[in-house]
Amino acid sequence: MKLNLSFAKPQMPADGVAVVLCDDKLALGAIAGALDQTAGGLVARAAAAGNFKGKEGSSLDLVLPAGLALDRLLVAGIGKAEGRGESDWMKLGGTIMAKIGGLKATAVTVVLERPDGADIEGEEAAAFAAGMRLRAYDFDRYKTRKSDDEENGGDAVDVTIVVDKASKAKSAYKLLGGVCDGVIVARDLVNEPGNVLGPEEFADRAKKLEKLGVEVEVLGEKEMRKLKMDALLGVALGSARPPRLVVMRWNGAKGKDKPLVFVGKGVCFDSGGISLKPGAGMEDMKGDMGGAAAVTGLMHALAARKARVDVIGIIGLVENMPDGKAQRPGDIVTSMSGQTIEIINTDAEGRLVLCDALWYAQERFEPRLVVDLATLTGAIMIALGHHHAGLFANDDDLAGQLARAGEATGEAVWRMPLGKDYDKLIDSKFADMKNTGGRWAGSITAAQFLKRFVKDGTPWAHLDVAGTAMGSPKTEISQSWSSGFGVRLLDRFVADNYEK
Ligand code: BES
Ligand code: MN
Ligand code: ZN
Repeated sequence: MKLNLSFAKPQMPADGVAVVLCDDKLALGAIAGALDQTAGGLVARAAAAGNFKGKEGSSLDLVLPAGLALDRLLVAGIGKAEGRGESDWMKLGGTIMAKIGGLKATAVTVVLERPDGADIEGEEAAAFAAGMRLRAYDFDRYKTRKSDDEENGGDAVDVTIVVDKASKAKSAYKLLGGVCDGVIVARDLVNEPGNVLGPEEFADRAKKLEKLGVEVEVLGEKEMRKLKMDALLGVALGSARPPRLVVMRWNGAKGKDKPLVFVGKGVCFDSGGISLKPGAGMEDMKGDMGGAAAVTGLMHALAARKARVDVIGIIGLVENMPDGKAQRPGDIVTSMSGQTIEIINTDAEGRLVLCDALWYAQERFEPRLVVDLATLTGAIMIALGHHHAGLFANDDDLAGQLARAGEATGEAVWRMPLGKDYDKLIDSKFADMKNTGGRWAGSITAAQFLKRFVKDGTPWAHLDVAGTAMGSPKTEISQSWSSGFGVRLLDRFVADNYEK
């Protein structure tokens, strides 16, 4: 649904639909109370009749009697008025957006006031608005038959958020709205089908960040061959579509510190290659560029809110297909680092893309730290399901910062182990290492593989987002197959630890 958001100072909603908040004692704020009074104390009566207790997530939809200019009053329960964090406000925005969508209204006033009379901060109101924005997202680009409501103009809604600190809310939302845009960039990229979004098309989308002041470089096959990225190039051999490596730079601190580098796996479609995947569910592998999408969305977010930090995003874009020219099990490739890799399974391709992108990142930028994101293994979904991304790190401080950003944003991560015994599992008979480690601990051996391409002294973390970036569970703020996981997490990680 298309959502036009604005903020306004407290005022009585004149007509149309109004949304007000109510706590679990059925208390209403000042404006809500006044509205209720003009309606003759309807809220308490309806609450009693409808067994409404003001619980978080519940609501009361009241059609107002004739004679009142206001048509409809939606009373949204928020549970306890105290102790709400920003993420609670964000979720509430999402929940209320869903209810508004259900009403088919075209103009809505949301009266944002705490039933206990306490202030709502600008950041909280902005988080609320962001929740609405993220909930309203719908990937319907390829639906040619719109539903009846959409044909009747019900696909767009103007929402005015009425709040005491309206101008503070507005400026906070200017920043947070930029982060939401980044999330939506990532969601769109992941949702796009493979025929539309190959490596070149993805690179073109990344190029669009130039409008925001991001420098974008696109390396083609020739340049990558010159750099000796044969691990990445090997994956692309079976595809008719040439690979790309995209480097995005946001110089928000003008080179004061060494840059933070984020690296993303961008396998635009992963058929498995010669080690072909089974057919069932293969369509989901259009989302195997979720790591690269998150990095692109993050760069968008940082640039949109003009983050005071130097950040580089690097994404390796390929398509993994079976073909007469495709690489085969048993092949040995030499990575950019010089280390050789025996290909045991062509479906373990993400690590081959990342190892060259990681090496390139360190050689060229001497980063302060590197975080990579990848839909790397099915095994991480066996371990953690869809609710945590797997976190691997060679640095406890970095791991802690990421874990805290996860808690703050609700994009949760869970630390997994690394160690010598796991590392041994990828030793190869014929080369320096092999690209799979056997049946057990598949996510860890994948991480051990990446670790072999991290230089001593470089703080590094790897996020396995196979379970969180796509096939995402529906939440208050995400109803899409692709959640855009990683953008809010890393934006927060950067903001809380590396901006001045
Ligand atoms: N892209 C997949 C991992 C994946 C699976 C992501 C399901 C999202 C959902 C990755 O390239 C892959 O195929 N990994 C293999 C590794 C194995 C061959 C060692 C896997 O997890 O089975
Ligand atoms: Mn694969
Ligand atoms: Zn893959």
